[in-house]
Amino acid sequence: MCGITGYVGAREASEVVLQGLHTLEYRGYDSAGVAAFINGNINVVKAVGKVSNVEEKIAALGTLKGAHCGIGHTRWATHGAPSDTNSHPHGTENIQIVHNGIIENYAPLRAMLQSNGFTFVSETDTEVAAKLIEYHYNNCHSREDALVYAMRDIIGSYAIAVMFRDCPETLYAIRKDNPLIIGVGEGENFVASDIAAVLRYTKTYYQLGDLELAIVTKDSICMMDMDKKEVSHPLLTATWSIEAAERGGYDHFMIKEINEEPEAVEKTLHPRIRDMMPNFEEENLSDERLKNAKSVTFVACGTAMHAGLVGKTAIEQLCRVPVKVEIASEFRYNDPILSEEDLVVIISQSGETADSLAALRLAKEKGAYTLGIVNVIGSTIAREADNVIYTWAGPEISVASTKAYTVQISLIYLLTIKMAYLKGKISEAEAKEYTRILYEDMPSLIKDTIAKEEEIKDAAKLFAKYEDLFFIGRGIDYHLAMEGSLKLKEISYIHSEAYAAGELKHGTISLITTEMPVIALATQEELYEKMISNIREVKARGAKVLLVAREGAKDAAAEAEKVIYLPRCEKFFTSIPLATVLQMLAYYVARERGCDIDKPRNLAKSVTVE
Ligand code: F6R
Repeated sequence: MCGITGYVGAREASEVVLQGLHTLEYRGYDSAGVAAFINGNINVVKAVGKVSNVEEKIAALGTLKGAHCGIGHTRWATHGAPSDTNSHPHGTENIQIVHNGIIENYAPLRAMLQSNGFTFVSETDTEVAAKLIEYHYNNCHSREDALVYAMRDIIGSYAIAVMFRDCPETLYAIRKDNPLIIGVGEGENFVASDIAAVLRYTKTYYQLGDLELAIVTKDSICMMDMDKKEVSHPLLTATWSIEAAERGGYDHFMIKEINEEPEAVEKTLHPRIRDMMPNFEEENLSDERLKNAKSVTFVACGTAMHAGLVGKTAIEQLCRVPVKVEIASEFRYNDPILSEEDLVVIISQSGETADSLAALRLAKEKGAYTLGIVNVIGSTIAREADNVIYTWAGPEISVASTKAYTVQISLIYLLTIKMAYLKGKISEAEAKEYTRILYEDMPSLIKDTIAKEEEIKDAAKLFAKYEDLFFIGRGIDYHLAMEGSLKLKEISYIHSEAYAAGELKHGTISLITTEMPVIALATQEELYEKMISNIREVKARGAKVLLVAREGAKDAAAEAEKVIYLPRCEKFFTSIPLATVLQMLAYYVARERGCDIDKPRNLAKSVTVE
């Protein structure tokens, strides 16, 4: 996830900004850069790779020495691969900006600017924002108005810090749907995407509001709305240590990342929705390719493979196309049967998983069209697949995958809607309604799910003392049971089995005793009664049951020790809030047991060996 720092005051600006960037390194990034005022000019130094690369470049060049006002950025690539050119700051000799977020309409804005004589050197949406501000400034000659006009033009989310050459020792900032704080010092002030970046210098700060702009000098802070009316915000005081601040105040990255899911889903889906229809034009994913696909094969490992299972249910249900889900380490040695009309989708958060990469190469060799669903820009799978759709979840630091999975399944749903529409299986009106739910309702639905934290914490207490348990479910709930079970095993070290509920009595029900609790997932209305029968079977053998069900599910409370109700959701998409519940449940069980949640034993974040 990108990070922003800015400084104005008596200290050496580049040192303060670099210090802030080091503090933000935990967020994950692939390049960095700094801009500062020197003798009436804005000098920029940037580099791909670590912040220390920029630090060394700054020391070697000496071009920022003596500056007292500057901005800096750590970039997590979205538009354009990690490179010196794509790193921030971006702009011209007159304006430089750093930006977090995504400018969804960057393509038409770039075209408009090009027709007005602007040229572009990078592939980024940020350079478009910088030149848009300059374009307006050239026309209106007011910095504030230029920023307001740019805010009006931009569709998307952003936190942007700006330096204008003709206004030295001053920082400007704007934001929408992306955090930006103004750190308050004595004779010095700061801007940052995250209080962690400035905590070394000050604990007091303002939170800039949505669609507001700030003008910051060493002695003054002015915040205003889009009508240029001054606004005031309470002065906040951070109570976190630097270490806690790096986790945004959360105790673990895992729970921080779960809390980032609403934003991650929005960032991943919104740019791919136009006129309330899925749109993959930016990815050059042709309609023909989706329309003519005879089969779909998802290939992946672990949690990413479980995302493929959700895809199987969704695509088969809505598109009536056969879907296979393959474990990459098996697929690569199984001599798969594939042809040009088959679509092979490789799902990978890291984009570097050795087995998934080998599977991708094999699928290409067999002549299939390969599509990567990948979180890390420029990773090997992203580069080698015939096509890639990035999930913009931001960096995932906790070993257990949470937000990456949630955005993978959300994106797969969007692809499914597109495919079903192209294949004539749903009407345009139906496609628009499904898309609207993902676009408008899903982020707040995930927020409502996260708000059930206390209930989930309570349920976790029921299970923390056991060493074995069962997850059961039917249909898509069975696939979610597999993911819930993996998450729980991975971080709490409780052994668990995920079972298709109807399969229990073909052998494994012999394991059910008073010492074997059961987590039953029953979110599908048409399978609910069947699930209730299965729950009664395990209860009759002494099992304690936690039931996860739809809001309003009939007599749920009478059937289980505890019930967690999902917020009301269109049934096609219930796996999204259900995933969040299961992730939180695993988290709180592991916490009860005092486990090292972010770094479970024996595991690595990216498995680059076979
Ligand atoms: C589990 C988990 C793993 C990964 C798997 C694939 O929480 O994170 O199961 O999902 O190792 O990794 P990627 O998605 O990077 O290919």
